[in-house]
Amino acid sequence: MYKILKKVLLSPSVWLYDIEAPRIAKKAEPGQFLIVRTDEEGERIPLTIADFDRQKGYVSIVFQEIGAGTELLGKLNEGDYILDVVAPLGRKTHIEPGMGTVVCIGGGIGVAPIYPIARGMHQAGNKVISIMGAKNKDILILEKEMRAVSDEVLITTDDGSCGIKGFVTTALQQIIDRSEKIDEVIAIGPVVMMRSVVEATRPYKIKTVVSLNPIMVDGTGMCGGCRVQVGDEIKFACVDGPEFDGHLVDFKGLMSRQRMYKDAEKEETNHVCKLSKIKGAI
Ligand code: FES
Repeated sequence: MYKILKKVLLSPSVWLYDIEAPRIAKKAEPGQFLIVRTDEEGERIPLTIADFDRQKGYVSIVFQEIGAGTELLGKLNEGDYILDVVAPLGRKTHIEPGMGTVVCIGGGIGVAPIYPIARGMHQAGNKVISIMGAKNKDILILEKEMRAVSDEVLITTDDGSCGIKGFVTTALQQIIDRSEKIDEVIAIGPVVMMRSVVEATRPYKIKTVVSLNPIMVDGTGMCGGCRVQVGDEIKFACVDGPEFDGHLVDFKGLMSRQRMYKDAEKEETNHVCKLSKIKGAI
């Protein structure tokens, strides 16, 4: 059982939990993920580790209530316990001194998992330019934290309510156009955003890493749900990733698989809603 030490609402329906887990915190590295299960019958929810504190012995997760599983998770409070936390899973981000200028891009709640990566890059002495994208200023998360670990932060909002009006690729293009030498781009966010980032850097041959955690189901290499074509190979995001060379990822195939899961999830949510109404009526 894992105790929730802190619960903070970051933006409407987006929660940050600090979870007591000293052994996991000791081993966790940027880029890795964990799987939580709220109770015996609860679904397994894969989430990227948003932060960890080895001294204080906790890991942080950030999640949005978008389905039956995350809604249940969101109902827990400080002091409550999560049944299972399996972690750390997946491969860690490649971080070392001398990598040069790294552009860290987080879209939506993708800012949460990009944060420990930006911090790791910064601590290793690399120049970190961060781009944070959101629909509007009210749902922008972790701005203070990102500023603390970045040499420069560019914010983009779809409606122009904060920073540059446009998408993360608008800001990325501005950096490219000012002839800044970019050694690597790392992007985490919705699949469609990561695909746009990859297409923006392709003509300039800038190394671009994407994190494919949004497509995971069980996170253990068993279900095959996170299967993705990378170059000539089929990879499993949960065990071979979650990070891959974005220029080799088959985004078209990935997006059609994701649509399939979204439909299935919608059906599942409707089913749960109907069941709870029936239970409520009994
Ligand atoms: Fe099931 Fe990777 S999530 S195999």
